[in-house]
Amino acid sequence: MAADSGTRVFATRTLPGDALERAGREVELEVWPGPGAPSPEELRDRLASCEGLLCLLTDRIDAPLLAAAPRLRVVSSCSVGVDHVDLAAASARGIPVGHTPGVLTETTADLAFALLLAAARRIPEADRFVRSGAWTPARSWEPDLLLGRDLHGAVLGLIGLGAIGRAVAARAQGFGMRVLGWNRSPCEVAGVERVPLPELLARSAFVSLHVALCDDTRGLLGPAELASLPRGAVLVNTARGGLVDESALAAALRSGHLAAAALDVYEAEPLPPDSPLLGVPGLVLAPHIGSASVATRARMADLAVDNLLAGLRSEPMPHCANPEVRQDLARRTGP
Ligand code: GLV
Repeated sequence: MAADSGTRVFATRTLPGDALERAGREVELEVWPGPGAPSPEELRDRLASCEGLLCLLTDRIDAPLLAAAPRLRVVSSCSVGVDHVDLAAASARGIPVGHTPGVLTETTADLAFALLLAAARRIPEADRFVRSGAWTPARSWEPDLLLGRDLHGAVLGLIGLGAIGRAVAARAQGFGMRVLGWNRSPCEVAGVERVPLPELLARSAFVSLHVALCDDTRGLLGPAELASLPRGAVLVNTARGGLVDESALAAALRSGHLAAAALDVYEAEPLPPDSPLLGVPGLVLAPHIGSASVATRARMADLAVDNLLAGLRSEPMPHCANPEVRQDLARRTGP
């Protein structure tokens, strides 16, 4: 069954691939022309008459916005994370919230591993060294130039053993690393030693974060946790900025307690131009590009549109982040 072609949907951004075209054949679709994202006021105005919303992780979908959208029936986010959506408020209204897990697992794990290597082997610093003209005949090959940390033989601690954490574990095993893992709920992963978080932090030369941001995980790595890492450890965060206390991280890098770190996500995005992180030594910075490959972004857009259209047809979404609403829908459309 197709959604009613008079169904109004607002998309906050154009998306790669042809997924929006497909949506536009089924519903009355308005796409924000940009540049950038609509402001909160513009989003509220557009949503006032819409039944569907296709959004990104940068759009804040909170209770006041939902309250100002009386006709809204479906939210679909082109992201795996849904910490930008007030799920409780959406569920209270019976609004299913779609998201895009699975399709971005391997691409995000690739980036986590790329950052691990870049931080450990100081690749951005090496690039700057060559470009700046510092690589002179007098320094053509120095025994102690840009020494980094070996991944092979080292212990990697994975905070979170969901799909992305497990995909990083597989890469680490290929690099000859020993892998420790901590997960909030019980799970077994081949080749990964499950340990309590304090033990993981105390034993890991490398740590990579792969948990969702929620009340329980906000500030998971603060000053005490960072201090409990072995001296010379390397930290990578491709999950969410709010998991790590950025000031404590900057202090740990400046003091030399941590050798290096790499971040793809931040407490505030985009990183403010005066962020103290910009001047911190040993810190590799990326602009939230974990899932940014051509193929994966197109798959995310496809899945976001699948979720949207299923929700508008009152069918269960392929991936719903508030399953209590999904179950209600399944009951309503069941035999
Ligand atoms: C990226 O961070 C996502 O949640 O998809």
